Formats: sequence, structure tokens, C-alpha cells
Amino acid sequence: MKKIPIVIGLFATITTAAIISSCATTSDMASLKSGAQLWGENCLRCHNAPSPETFSDTEWDVAIMHMRVRANLTEDEAVKIAEFLKTAN
Ligand code: HEC
Repeated sequence: MKKIPIVIGLFATITTAAIISSCATTSDMASLKSGAQLWGENCLRCHNAPSPETFSDTEWDVAIMHMRVRANLTEDEAVKIAEFLKTAN
């Protein structure tokens, strides 16, 4: 009888691991997204997504450097967003 809780515990651990790894898979998909998509999804979470023409290329470099930390972006995502903003400004 003592074995039952262990089995349940193991099942819960496996389920949790499956959920966590499925989340990880989703964030890996970010590398397939365009800069415009990433901008739309990430830059309006805390404030209105600033439109590309708001800043010059140099100003975007600085803003993205700051917002990369805030938005917890990967290097790849930050580069893509910066490229999108600079081509559209
Ligand atoms: C986790 C919340 C958060 C996310 C996500 C976020 N920002 Fe911000 N952003 C802030 C906060 C807070 C400020 C104001 C304080 C500061 O400048 O650090 C700000 C300020 C800014 C400013 C300066 C505004 C001004 O008028 O000078 C720009 C530009 C900006 N964000 C762009 C972006 C872009 C582009 C993204 C997407 C990559 C983004 N932000 C994602 C929180 C966030």
C-alpha cells in the first residue's frame, strides 16, 4: 500500500516536466518569428508599443538595449525587433 503515493508523486513529476518542456518548446518558436511579430507581442505588454518612427536608429539601439532586459528577450529576438524598427522608421 505504501507504494501508491510514490507512483502518484512520480506521475505528478512527469506531468510537471511535460508542461514545462512544452512551454520551452513554445519559446524556441520565437526564432521563427519576424521582428514585426516579436515587436507586436512583446513591446505592448507594459506600455503602448512605440511605433518605429518614434526614434532614430541610434535611439532604437539604446531603447532596445534597455527593453531587452525588461522584456526578457533573447539576443536573437532583440536583434530582430531592432532591425524591424530601424527599417520601418
Ligand atoms: C516588462 C515591461 C516592459 C516591456 C515588456 C517593454 N518595456 Fe519599454 N519600458 C518599460 C518601462 C517601465 C519604461 C519606462 C522606464 C524606463 O525607461 O526604463 C519603458 C520605456 C520604454 C521606452 C522609452 C520611452 C520614452 O518615451 O523615452 C521605449 C522606447 C520602450 N520602452 C520601448 C520598448 C520596446 C521596443 C519594447 C519591446 C522590445 C519594450 N519597450 C518592452 C517597460 C517595458
